[in-house]
Amino acid sequence: MIKIAPSILAADFAKLGQDVKEVEKAGAELIHIDVMDGHFVPNITMGPIVVEALRPITNLPLDVHLMIENPESYIEQFAKAGADYISIHVEACRHLHRTIQLIRSFNVKPGVVLNPHTPIESIQHILEDIDFVLFMTVNPGFGGQKFISSVVPKIEALFKIIKERGLNIEIEVDGGITAETVVPCAKAGATMIVAGSAIFNKEDRTKALQEIKLAGEA
Ligand code: DX5
Ligand code: ZN
Repeated sequence: MIKIAPSILAADFAKLGQDVKEVEKAGAELIHIDVMDGHFVPNITMGPIVVEALRPITNLPLDVHLMIENPESYIEQFAKAGADYISIHVEACRHLHRTIQLIRSFNVKPGVVLNPHTPIESIQHILEDIDFVLFMTVNPGFGGQKFISSVVPKIEALFKIIKERGLNIEIEVDGGITAETVVPCAKAGATMIVAGSAIFNKEDRTKALQEIKLAGEA
């Protein structure tokens, strides 16, 4: 089963609530929220107040992707704002295991994000402690970039480890996902699919979302 997580980075911020309701109606399973601090990535986006504003307007789980330095300082704020999933980047955490525990202490599902170059070995000792791994299929910072296909073998390799170790971990992919690029990702084992521009920049967003879901489930 494929879960589609539209990334609101590509939504119209002047009518964000409306856009979120539209993709919920279209069949989205999660809402993906990209938080950028201008330090970890060369872009600045939104903070906990956006999560808080969206919490009452949708029933969908809020999937908060933290592209920020020292994420441990903001976990409580995002959890209290209504995050259901929080993912943090390996390179942004000095004490990755501690930050994962902190996320879980607020009853939020913890995930770890791997940049295109980050090896899966970097998370082998914390696999038991997380609920999902997010594979970046672009370099984080901007929507609308081209899918990096060399990430797919990494997804396959982690999926194999998850199976062998009998772990209950979901695989999420993020960046350049379309009805074409979702296919190798889903074959490799990804079930949480983030898509920004491929949904929000389309005239018919429902059709765009459903096409990605169908392609991923085929
Ligand atoms: C990139 C973000 C992505 C981005 C995806 O740093 O993490 O979630 O919004 O956008 P698309 O789907 O347009 O590549
Ligand atoms: Zn993201």
